[in-house]
Amino acid sequence: MTTETPIINATKSFVKSELANAEGGHDWFHIERVYKNALLISKDENVNLEIIALGALLHDIADAKFHQGDESVGPKKAKDFLESIQADENVMEHVIKIIENISFKGGNFQQKFHSKELAIVQDADRLDALGAIGIARTFNYAGFKNRKLYDPEIAPQLNMTKEEYKIGDNPTINHFYEKLLLLKDRMNTKKGKELAEKRHQFMETFLEQFYAEWEGKI
Ligand code: ADP
Ligand code: NI
Repeated sequence: MTTETPIINATKSFVKSELANAEGGHDWFHIERVYKNALLISKDENVNLEIIALGALLHDIADAKFHQGDESVGPKKAKDFLESIQADENVMEHVIKIIENISFKGGNFQQKFHSKELAIVQDADRLDALGAIGIARTFNYAGFKNRKLYDPEIAPQLNMTKEEYKIGDNPTINHFYEKLLLLKDRMNTKKGKELAEKRHQFMETFLEQFYAEWEGKI
């Protein structure tokens, strides 16, 4: 299947314009990277590429973080849009489920819906939270929130509950321990795991260098 269908092209234009003023880590370029990652992972799998493409393109159309924590805005916006372009009913339902279930919710959250397509889009999104891009996005988001880079007195906490994770106004480095370093063990696909492993190593190296520089040891 080509990914240049009228439905997919219309979705790309819609997402681009909706995210025109988005924070730098959740903008159109994030969507484009996730879309590319998702198609790359899909090469090794027997899946519905239209669902993958639409799920990747629409997954952050209205992230709850930027909508007073309301998790219903994104799925609703995506549904209204897909209805407006007369997308297939089954495709639409599956895409909405992907949007509702893709997000990382801390240690104790049980995901309700499972499908190969969700697994792939989720891996693609998680890859963009790792490695050099992952580091850049994290500092950009924290800057947007006016957070400290690091504070040795506020120790990073592992395996936070959903509530603790949401409240988190912690220094930026803590986010590596709250989320980023946990992701490689949560990848769903073989290809996703391979790619995550490399990006994880890069973040470990970054953190070692960061602490060494912080202490004036290098
Ligand atoms: P998901 O894509 O799983 O829903 P988020 O949208 O919460 O995850 O996070 C995407 C990226 O935004 C993170 O990988 C990180 O780079 C940045 N980010 C989100 N929350 C925080 C935070 N509390 N501190 C620093 N960066 C964050
Ligand atoms: Ni995302």
